[in-house]
Amino acid sequence: MCKGIFITATGTDVGKTYISALLLSKLRNSGINAGYYKPVLSGAEYVNGELIPGDAAYVCQKGGLPVEPMNLVSYIYQEPLSPHLAAQRAGDRIDLAKIESDFIRIYQQYDYLIVEGCGGIVCPLRYDEEKILLKDLILKLNMDILIVSEAKLGSINDAALTAYYAAQQRIHVSGIILNRYKPRSFMEKDNQNMIASMTGVPITACVEEGAQELECEIESLLKCFKTIEL
Ligand SMILES: Nc1ncnc2c1ncn2[C@@H]1O[C@H](COP(=O)(O)OP(=O)(O)OP(=O)(O)O)[C@@H](O)[C@H]1O
Ligand SMILES: [Mg+2]
Repeated sequence: MCKGIFITATGTDVGKTYISALLLSKLRNSGINAGYYKPVLSGAEYVNGELIPGDAAYVCQKGGLPVEPMNLVSYIYQEPLSPHLAAQRAGDRIDLAKIESDFIRIYQQYDYLIVEGCGGIVCPLRYDEEKILLKDLILKLNMDILIVSEAKLGSINDAALTAYYAAQQRIHVSGIILNRYKPRSFMEKDNQNMIASMTGVPITACVEEGAQELECEIESLLKCFKTIEL
C-alpha cells in the first residue's frame, strides 16, 4: 500500500521542485521509503546530446533517492513551453494511459510517493481533437493535492483561486505550503492567516528563502498523503 500526494502551485517556477525535494528529504531522513514521479517536464536542457530531466535530477540528489532520474519522468520536452505546445512541436502526444502505467510501476516501489505537476493547476497537456488538462491527470490518478504558493503581496488571490478551482473540479486540497516566506513580515503573516481562513485549507508549512529543511511535524506532512487506489 502506497500513499501519494500531487504537488501543484499557483504558477510555474513558484517552487514545486524545491519543495518536493525538501519533502522527499524529510521523509527519507525519517526512514520512510519515499519516492518521486514527474509525469510531464518541459524546458529540459540538452547536455552532451542528452535531454536532462532537471526537476527529477534535483529532487533525487537533494532527497537522497538513488534512482536514474530519467526513469521518473514520462514525457520530457526541451522547449520551455506549456506541455500541450511543447509536445505538439516535438511531434508527440501526451497519453494519460502511459502516465497511469508509469505511475503504477513507480508507486509500487514505495510507501509514499510525491508526484510533481507542471506549471500551475490550469495547464493543458493536449489540446487538439482530444483535450487533456492537468486536472484530468490528477483526477485519473485519484490524488489529493498540495498547493505551493508564494507568501508575498498578491498571494491571497493566487492561492485562493487555485484552491477554488480545485474544489470546483472536486479535487481535494490537503494543504498549502507558502514558499519564500518572510516570518518578520506582518503582511505575509496576515496572508498566511487569510489564505487559511478563506480557503479552509491548512497551511502545512512556511518555507523561507534558501531553507534546507521543511520545518513542520512529520505527522502533519504524512496526513496530507492519501492511499493510492489504482
Ligand atoms: N525557498 C526557496 N529558496 C531558494 N530558492 C528557491 C526557493 N524556492 C524556489 N527556489 C528556486 O526558484 C527556482 C524555481 O523553483 P522550482 O524549480 O522549484 O519551481 P517549479 O514550480 O518546480 O517550476 P516548474 O513549473 O518549472 O516545474 C529554482 O531555481 C529554485 O531553486
Ligand atoms: Mg519543477
